Amino acid sequence: MDSKPEIIIELKNLTKKFKFVTAVNDLNLEIYKGEILGFLGPNGAGKTTSMKLMASLLKPTEGEIFIRENGKLQKLTSHNKDYLLDNIGFLIENPEFYKDNTPRQLLTLFAKLKGYPRDKINDRVAEIIHMVDLSQWIDQKLGTFSKGMRQKIGILSALVHDPVILVLDEPQTGLDPKARREIRDLLLQLKNQGKTIFLSSHLLYEIAEIADRVAIISHGILVACDTLENLEAQSKSSHIQVELLNMNDINETGMQIDKLIQSFLTEPIRYNKDSRVFELPFDGDPEKQYKILQVLIQNGMKIIDFTVSKADLLESLYLQHISQSDKTYKEFQKKAIKVENII
Ligand SMILES: Nc1ncnc2c1ncn2[C@@H]1O[C@H](COP(=O)(O)OP(=O)(O)OP(=O)(O)O)[C@@H](O)[C@H]1O
Ligand SMILES: [Mg+2]
Repeated sequence: MDSKPEIIIELKNLTKKFKFVTAVNDLNLEIYKGEILGFLGPNGAGKTTSMKLMASLLKPTEGEIFIRENGKLQKLTSHNKDYLLDNIGFLIENPEFYKDNTPRQLLTLFAKLKGYPRDKINDRVAEIIHMVDLSQWIDQKLGTFSKGMRQKIGILSALVHDPVILVLDEPQTGLDPKARREIRDLLLQLKNQGKTIFLSSHLLYEIAEIADRVAIISHGILVACDTLENLEAQSKSSHIQVELLNMNDINETGMQIDKLIQSFLTEPIRYNKDSRVFELPFDGDPEKQYKILQVLIQNGMKIIDFTVSKADLLESLYLQHISQSDKTYKEFQKKAIKVENII
């Protein structure tokens, strides 16, 4: 990605209040051209609501949405929404397709609705069905499809008109590992074709694997948005997983290791005497990571694996941000109740 990324969508002070809840609270978010931006957050955090606001399925209580068109960011309004939203393909919440329809019928309908050139629709539908390896199913009824196959068709329905941006709400939820992987590969393939992808998920492993940046929302508030590396550096909390060739190594040299690398660690080593794997909590500084490895090898440890797992890292960063946000939210609620009582 360029050092100065181009913003393709900008959410400015976006707020959506329902009767009893502020689902999205002063959300400021920039989506960069060509990136995969993962959107994470607990149940009820405001992910789907944010996406519905982007799709103009809901009207914001406050705030604005800008979408790039003709080289400049343009404010989304009720007058220009059809024109601006043609740039985006949405898959929001599980679409219920007509079971008696075939992918060809469904995708043709979506392409027509989005104004794709009529004479090109047949070829486009065949092309995208081929991309997900479902060409032999193009004329089969959707009622006979597995969940993974239906989900692929759902994604295709969002991209049949060849939009530059895709907004996908939990495209991998409920799928088995093979289907998840297929969707992951498809998203990467689309990114390589130049698409920008904004996707929500609860699957941290999937996001860690494919996202260029992650945005974390909690109680409607954006609590983090950056690359995994930058979030790691900001939190100064990471851990290396080390696996040894022989279990005895850790028992014989365990205490000695503690002393050797203590100065590089933020917490004591976490190890289980019955396992060949142990964890070294450190601040994520790559220089220290290198030095730790050097010391361990110089001291004769037979290391067969030495990794900072991206998925583990994302999980611990996610949990840190969410628990901090839960605390702040509870304090805010307490104060609000006190004020109510006074009034
Ligand atoms: N139409 C609505 N009317 C009233 N409240 C709503 C409505 N839609 C969403 N909410 C509330 O807004 C909050 C955010 O919901 P939203 O569906 O955006 O969360 P989410 O992050 O997508 O959650 P999940 O991970 O469970 O899909 C929740 O408290 C939800 O109950
Ligand atoms: Mg949701």
